Amino acid sequence: MERTLAIIKPDGVSNGLIGEIIKRIEAEGIKIVGMKMLHLDRFKAEGFYYVHRSKPFFNSLIDYMTSGPIVVMVLQAPDVINRWRKLMGATDPKQAEPGTIRAEMGLNIERNVVHGSDSKDSAMYEINYFFKGTELVD
Ligand code: RTP
Ligand code: MG
Repeated sequence: MERTLAIIKPDGVSNGLIGEIIKRIEAEGIKIVGMKMLHLDRFKAEGFYYVHRSKPFFNSLIDYMTSGPIVVMVLQAPDVINRWRKLMGATDPKQAEPGTIRAEMGLNIERNVVHGSDSKDSAMYEINYFFKGTELVD
């Protein structure tokens, strides 16, 4: 069993896509074992995206991720890190495979609707960044 952190980003929430995205997760047989809605402040968003701090898009990314509420979820299933990234599609919606969430709902390379951890290590860091053990069910 593996876990990953998924986020429905501010554009996904404000465009009314929470239900559609959760439907796709559940249709894959992936279990949601933690979920909450948050509005990040800059400090919390910068800590989450620490690895990107020297990228040219960092400030714009923090503006975007603090622009409105998000939904954070912990997903659990075998190989769920890769499976969730496959459902999301490539970072840039223009490059994302047809049928993926980003291809169908993403606005541009930044406003791309969803987030998914990219490795076991980042999944552990990101899950602990938002959830206490007691906030996850099994
Ligand atoms: P994520 O972390 O959100 O799941 O996305 P990812 O792995 O596909 O992309 P990553 O390289 O980790 O970038 C994190 C987020 O930063 C924004 N971004 N903007 N303007 C740009 O060139 C650019 N590149 C990335 C996106 O919101 C991306 O998801
Ligand atoms: Mg990433």
